[in-house]
Amino acid sequence: MTFPFSARALSLAACAGAALALPLVLSCAPAAAAGEAALGRRIAKANCARCHAIGKTGESANPKAPPFRVVAVKYRGEDLEEAFAEGIMVGHRAPEMPEFEFSPRQIEALTAYLGRLRGK
Ligand code: HEC
Repeated sequence: MTFPFSARALSLAACAGAALALPLVLSCAPAAAAGEAALGRRIAKANCARCHAIGKTGESANPKAPPFRVVAVKYRGEDLEEAFAEGIMVGHRAPEMPEFEFSPRQIEALTAYLGRLRGK
């Protein structure tokens, strides 16, 4: 059975907490990928959620905007990163979708988050 609050999320929370408490903690390497995805989720929540469903369930607020879990399945791996980067940069076909300019780091984070939606 799957449960939304996975052990990984908990260890990530613990890791983030530790990182806050101890800025000099060298690394939370096992949680690095998870941290990336968590950053991606925050970016998505702040910038994309008003149109796209960004979680594992739920409908998009804008019915024309595909839920991110659909986008995640449609594109894989580097395809996703590329499509994402391009999509975000050009605002693609949707006139109502604003242009976003993210750093490669932010795009990586978004991609990591999308990857998570595929259950990986
Ligand atoms: C104002 C509404 C709006 C916001 C905000 C928005 N989008 Fe979109 N987005 C859309 C619509 C509508 C579509 C579908 C039409 C299209 O592909 O042009 C879309 C399509 C996409 C696609 C392409 C999906 C495909 O099948 O090719 C991606 C990727 C995407 N959005 C990513 C994002 C990301 C990442 C953000 C936040 C940084 C975001 N969008 C914010 C409205 C929005």
